[in-house]
Amino acid sequence: MEFLVKSGSPEKRRTPALVVGVFANRSLSESAALLDQACGGMITSVLRRGDMEGETGQVLWLYDLPNISADRVLLIGCGKAEALNEATFARILAAMTRALQQSGAAEAVSYLCELAVKQYDMQWKLQQSVLVIEDTLYRFDQFKQKKEDTKRPLKRVIFGLPTRNNLPQGEQAVREASAMATGMRLTKDLGNLPGNICTPSYLAEQAQQLARTYTDLAVSVLEEAELEALGMQALLAVTKGTEQPAKFIIVEYRKGEAKDKPVVLVGKGVTFDSGGISLKPGEAMDEMKYDMCGAASVLGTLLACAELMLPINLIGVIPAVENMPSGKATRPGDIVTTLSGQSVEILNTDAEGRLILCDALTYVERFEPEVVIDIATLTGACIIALGHQGCALFSNQAALAQDLCEAGQQMYDRAWEMPLWEEYQEQLKSNFADMANIGGRPAGSITAACFLARFTKKYAWAHLDIAGVAWKSGKEKGATGRPVPLLLRYLLNRLHSRAHG
Ligand code: BES
Ligand code: MN
Ligand code: ZN
Repeated sequence: MEFLVKSGSPEKRRTPALVVGVFANRSLSESAALLDQACGGMITSVLRRGDMEGETGQVLWLYDLPNISADRVLLIGCGKAEALNEATFARILAAMTRALQQSGAAEAVSYLCELAVKQYDMQWKLQQSVLVIEDTLYRFDQFKQKKEDTKRPLKRVIFGLPTRNNLPQGEQAVREASAMATGMRLTKDLGNLPGNICTPSYLAEQAQQLARTYTDLAVSVLEEAELEALGMQALLAVTKGTEQPAKFIIVEYRKGEAKDKPVVLVGKGVTFDSGGISLKPGEAMDEMKYDMCGAASVLGTLLACAELMLPINLIGVIPAVENMPSGKATRPGDIVTTLSGQSVEILNTDAEGRLILCDALTYVERFEPEVVIDIATLTGACIIALGHQGCALFSNQAALAQDLCEAGQQMYDRAWEMPLWEEYQEQLKSNFADMANIGGRPAGSITAACFLARFTKKYAWAHLDIAGVAWKSGKEKGATGRPVPLLLRYLLNRLHSRAHG
């Protein structure tokens, strides 16, 4: 999709489709009122006839309005003006997108960014518009023989802005959001691919493919023999039961100054999590193909940064494995030595994410990172704690936690901080090793994070447990592309705050 910004009055805009808002009780938005004036009150009279109340998400097409240059006008119900928030704004944009896609118009000019949404500015509304439009049009149908293809799809959306002064900032916002959406598409595609296709090798190939498209990215892949030589026994314990070779993927993007220490993103890449010998129950087990969404979000974020050619140093690290039961699989009770030298008693082979992450988190010390953020579909307990609204955030540095929270808040891709209090560490005690890999039922996400915290003492670190936000279940099953918006916004904010001192 192509996105543009333009200024100027809606009634004079020559385009196949104009989009304006109508609030509940049929009160017109600014642009709708301008159109109404130009066409001699035809919009008001149509509404008075009762064709539309203006409830959130309602749509009504009007054709050939006199004195209006556009072919058609799409009225979108916006609900009560005072009640307009992030969620309703998204619903309005999704309704617009669906109506446009079915209309036969290849181009549309939207005036919905003029609506007041809480305290948000024009750039925010533009970014959300781009993200919602792309998300609404996203389909994953590569395995369907019959695709629901639109005869004349929407190809270009132009956002009408109040004045010419708004254009430079508007263009910037749209550019960033488009890159974000492109990154999210990769994240969604990789997540939605089934485990028989999206294997650790496939993820490694995709990273290499990415580096062929974006020459600023450099990829290296460590094989099992190298991981063995390094001493990553925890990671290797997870991959023992599968036929799929593990891959340790490193993607480097160094477009910052040589002296700038990198931000390192570590993504959990379990391409299918059966639980191993501690086999999961059958219900919804298919959804464990999404257990590599952390890895996918790292690749999506790297793609977006490369697309925007951001002057930063960013490294993505992806331990990629499949967790399967077999005669060669790790048993509950097995003890391994991690790359850090600390030993772990593996009491449950289904707590595998922390086993691959702990070795990756030790490995990244060599990059002398400024900040390390790991992203993982780590615990079911996280969904019990926060549901599907936000991810859990843990950090050993208050400023980092705050920056990530803020970035999430800004993008409507929220994170909520949870504690790493020392007392929780007791739950990880083992009679036979330095620690166990599970901490019992209480505070399951916290003890998982506490486990990781034992491997991240040498740098500023944050952990995002994205188990509740990385994909949707049920009728709308599919990857969401989260938390790419949070991560990219964090990197952009960081870049801007540096530039200004
Ligand atoms: N990948 C799962 C976590 C998960 C489960 C995410 C369901 C989203 C939905 C993780 O590897 C896992 O199995 N965690 C266990 C940990 C337990 C054994 C301590 C869990 O959450 O049950
Ligand atoms: Mn598991
Ligand atoms: Zn898992």
